[in-house]
Amino acid sequence: MSTNPTHWTKVDNYFTDLLTPADPVLTAALQDSEAAGLPAINVAPNQGKLLHLLAQLQGAHRILEIGTLGGYSTIWLARALPADGHLLTLEYSPKHAEVAAANLTRAGLDKITEIRTGPALDSLATLHAESPAPFDLVFIDADKANNPHYVEWSLKLTRPGSLIIVDNVVRGGEVTNPKSDDPSIRGTRAALELIASHPKLDGTAVQTVGTKGYDGFALARVLD
Ligand SMILES: C[S@@+](CC[C@H](N)C(=O)[O-])C[C@H]1O[C@@H](n2cnc3c(N)ncnc32)[C@H](O)[C@@H]1O
Repeated sequence: MSTNPTHWTKVDNYFTDLLTPADPVLTAALQDSEAAGLPAINVAPNQGKLLHLLAQLQGAHRILEIGTLGGYSTIWLARALPADGHLLTLEYSPKHAEVAAANLTRAGLDKITEIRTGPALDSLATLHAESPAPFDLVFIDADKANNPHYVEWSLKLTRPGSLIIVDNVVRGGEVTNPKSDDPSIRGTRAALELIASHPKLDGTAVQTVGTKGYDGFALARVLD
């Protein structure tokens, strides 16, 4: 078994070339994000495809994303929606939101997606006050310190059977450190503990390696 990141990248590139063939819209989204100075902290292509497949398996009509960046994962998720579907994505940075909006328009997804700018905790409170129809899938990928709050809001905004996905739960293995004072680790651990203990959640977490290094996802199903 290899623990060499060079091998992880080689295998990721093999999977990506084989299973997620070059897509001009996604490539342009990444190129324009880079040109605008956004950090390259989007999901990897094979992870985007995983999100897309999960949304399709979920039969999702309504998706909530927390953490838009340049809209790369947004495109993967929104492409899984039916024509009358809707994806709402929350982003703190107006600059990131502007780049994402252009990327979503080029992808032909502007009619079924909406970006709300500002701190996600504020956007979530506003959203909840609007009593929206429940979301079928939530993808949490913003500031990790707030992950437990995002899981709690997700519970209020979903239905039994909805899927909640939390990205970056391994953080190079630091997630196992109960003494960490890193807010991202503390937030991630708190979110995992919430998933483990909440009577309305049934979840798991998986480690991943690849072009994005060593990390992982948590997945939780909302119960009755
Ligand atoms: C890891 S990136 C999202 C990547 C994106 N999901 C993708 O894979 O293409 C995290 C994003 O969350 C945003 N963010 C950070 N703190 C936030 C907050 N409090 N509210 C909303 N968005 C926030 C950052 O500006 C950044 O664009």
